[in-house]
Amino acid sequence: MDYYNLMEKRMSIRDFKDWDLSEKQMEDIREHFQKGSRLIPHIDVDLVLLQKEGEKLLDGVAGYKGFLIKAPYYLLILSEDHPYAAQNAGYIGEDLVLKLSEMELDSCWVTLTDSDAVKEAVGLSSDKNVAAIIAFGYGNSLGDRTRLDIKSPSDIHVITREGHLAPKICVEDLVYLEKWGQKSGWEEDVIDDTMEKAFYGASIAPSFLNRQPYRFIYDYNQMILAVKEDELTGEHDGKLNQGIVMFHFSAVLSQWRPREVQWVMGAPDKTYEIPGEYEIAGYCEV
Ligand SMILES: Cc1cc2nc3c(=O)[nH]c(=O)nc-3n(C[C@H](O)[C@H](O)[C@H](O)COP(=O)(O)O)c2cc1C
Repeated sequence: MDYYNLMEKRMSIRDFKDWDLSEKQMEDIREHFQKGSRLIPHIDVDLVLLQKEGEKLLDGVAGYKGFLIKAPYYLLILSEDHPYAAQNAGYIGEDLVLKLSEMELDSCWVTLTDSDAVKEAVGLSSDKNVAAIIAFGYGNSLGDRTRLDIKSPSDIHVITREGHLAPKICVEDLVYLEKWGQKSGWEEDVIDDTMEKAFYGASIAPSFLNRQPYRFIYDYNQMILAVKEDELTGEHDGKLNQGIVMFHFSAVLSQWRPREVQWVMGAPDKTYEIPGEYEIAGYCEV
């Protein structure tokens, strides 16, 4: 899949047409889930697709402050208990979001705080937890789309992309060179074109309330993801964010690499002078 261009095209859509998807389209989504990427392959996960009735069932148990994005379809990622279940679900979910983009469908991540409440509302008897919810279908044209009051941190530069509602942190502020806070203009002698694309892919990842509460450190043969606790982002959504941005970086870079770029969770030996409010979530060989 051409993840780079799909990322450039993707944006959260919150207003959907009441159009049906074909059985073939639903099957393509299921198939992509089965053979799609995993952050941690041994975590057991399932996919549940809700058609039509999802909007009524999920009302009040999912969405920012219980405000559910109304959509004809929702996908739920169920996961067994695991310390990295949410990061893994974020990684898998974002792969599906981009698959939906490839299928010319629109989508929006939907937050949840209580897996049991969602399972009860939907009537799921699985032992697994609901780790992620994504609304999807055919979106309405930009003019009709519900706008969101996006909060972006004030101490960073943001870029706006034509036709996109959510401004994003620019690569120069997102990725440090070798150690915390060291900025680079990322000239050709520092990185190649594919790395630049992977940085950009990471910079346009969706995040809870568009907060992007993370930074990267590029250490020539390693990429490090540092995350901070954000006062507006709950713990579970913060972990989904991590998996999503990890996917954006590795999926783009993997397009030009012989093997899929694989993240290792936790911190490497080197500390990189990370400030106290941040911690290293993971790193990968690049
Ligand atoms: C974990 C997570 C949960 C989200 N939950 C919601 C939600 O409940 N309602 C909503 O409208 N958007 C939700 N979003 C979408 C974000 O607001 C959106 O990704 C962000 O504003 C950036 O916009 P973009 O996706 O167009 O780049 C969520 C995103 C993430 C990553």
